[in-house]
Amino acid sequence: MKKNTYYITTPIYYPSANFHIGHCYTTIIADSIARYKRMQGYDVCFQTGTDEHGQKIATRAKEAGLDPKSYVDNIVENAKDLWKSLNISYDKFIRTTDKFHELAVQKIFTKLYEQGDIYKGEYKGLYCTPCESFWTSTQLIDGKCPDCGREVHEVKEEAYFLKLSNYADQLVKYIEMHPDFIQPESRKNEMINNFIKPGLEDLCVSRTSFSWGIQVPFDPKHVVYVWLDALTNYITSLGYMSDDDTEFKKYWPADLHLVGKEITRFHTIVWPILLMALDLPIPKQVFGHGWLVINGGKISKSLGNYKDPREYIKEYGVDAVRYFVLREVPFGNDGTFSEEALIHRTNADLANNLGNLVNRTISMANKYFDGQIANKHEKESIDKELFDAVNKVNQIVKEKMELLHVSEALESIFDVLRRSNKYIDETTPWILAKDESNRNRLETVLYNLLESIRVCATLLAPYLPDTSKKIKEQLNNFESSDNYLENNHYQVNIPTPLFQRIDKKVE
Ligand code: MSP
Repeated sequence: MKKNTYYITTPIYYPSANFHIGHCYTTIIADSIARYKRMQGYDVCFQTGTDEHGQKIATRAKEAGLDPKSYVDNIVENAKDLWKSLNISYDKFIRTTDKFHELAVQKIFTKLYEQGDIYKGEYKGLYCTPCESFWTSTQLIDGKCPDCGREVHEVKEEAYFLKLSNYADQLVKYIEMHPDFIQPESRKNEMINNFIKPGLEDLCVSRTSFSWGIQVPFDPKHVVYVWLDALTNYITSLGYMSDDDTEFKKYWPADLHLVGKEITRFHTIVWPILLMALDLPIPKQVFGHGWLVINGGKISKSLGNYKDPREYIKEYGVDAVRYFVLREVPFGNDGTFSEEALIHRTNADLANNLGNLVNRTISMANKYFDGQIANKHEKESIDKELFDAVNKVNQIVKEKMELLHVSEALESIFDVLRRSNKYIDETTPWILAKDESNRNRLETVLYNLLESIRVCATLLAPYLPDTSKKIKEQLNNFESSDNYLENNHYQVNIPTPLFQRIDKKVE
């Protein structure tokens, strides 16, 4: 049987410096969604990559005394190592310097030129180099770049333009007919009211003032302006405009482009228009998420206000970092990253709630039954609440994930863990253990707890893959049903703590 496909992408990141926890944020969320969809049986293509051309990278490389390609090669290697240490399960990693991408971009540019969607003109405008963005004077805030607040400068040069205005009506119609296309809702209104309604200016899609880019094939003093180069990654990686477009046919249109709020504009205006001009289907959804901020401000390569994320992984464990990022910020809003908050979350949820539950339960199974537990079916009314919680949670997770409410999906699993800890307090196994006549009831109670833990571990796999695996190893049970089973059987291992409580004080 043919499986349903699911194509999910992160933005392709600028390799202008090594990545920080903000880049990890998008990537970890995308990874959890990809893993969740795989668990649901989808044929998933999860793509990330790097956006390597443009003046900013060229300048950085020069400062470092390297040619641009060697400069980005180092950063890409570092990024791949970071993704590995975060257990990011991407299927594809595209670099805009990949030959197949460069060739496809040239073909796309030529096609759009030949059909009249791209034309030659003169560019006079305000440019923010760090953001690689052009602005009109009305878009500036206090005369500065509205995205990063830095200085913009005037540039004037011969350039090619993409006729965005030709497609504005078609775009508005598309957005209106497809209410899920731009999410969350607030961003959709922002796009329509702040950008489309005031009128779309044609977009400059080539530059002559720098050379680190893809050459316009029929006019080699021009290089393709980075956003056309960058956005098309989502289709060139699948073989669009190449000899083998099997994957393109299979996965396009994308199901979800996850992007930060500041680049939602490019993904919901420029990108669909490019696709309309190419006569290709529009992605099903673009989700513009908020930022992780530090001390109220953006985490910034140029401010250098962050540590390498691997330091946190080394100190607290990969799943502590994944959990924090997934749990702390309601998706769509901004959230604050701090080491203190990371420690707090790890202690409260991972060490106390999850870790203690697993440790207590497995220890008791060993202590009272040599680790061998079967269901003795000696139920009591007090069990009902736990059963209900365990049997409902997969449905709740499903509903939350469909809305991309990842934080709430995780929260619902932790509610069941909390409920299970409460069940231990209610059933007091250590008291049951004192009386031989309670033996079957005691075994039933431990069975119920093991089932709850197993179901939670199964559901946690997309978010905390290592921890999920460790729990299943300790349970010595890899059954992946996400419901309470009546006749499972356990021969548990000796428990080892999943998370250590962290007592460190952060300055
Ligand atoms: N290269 C472009 C994207 C092209 S996609 C066709 C770009 N790169 S970026 O490296 O500047 O940013 C990539 C993504 O990382 C953006 O979605 C951005 O929002 C995200 N983040 C960068 N810093 C972030 C935080 N502090 N918090 C959350 N996400 C952040 O833009």
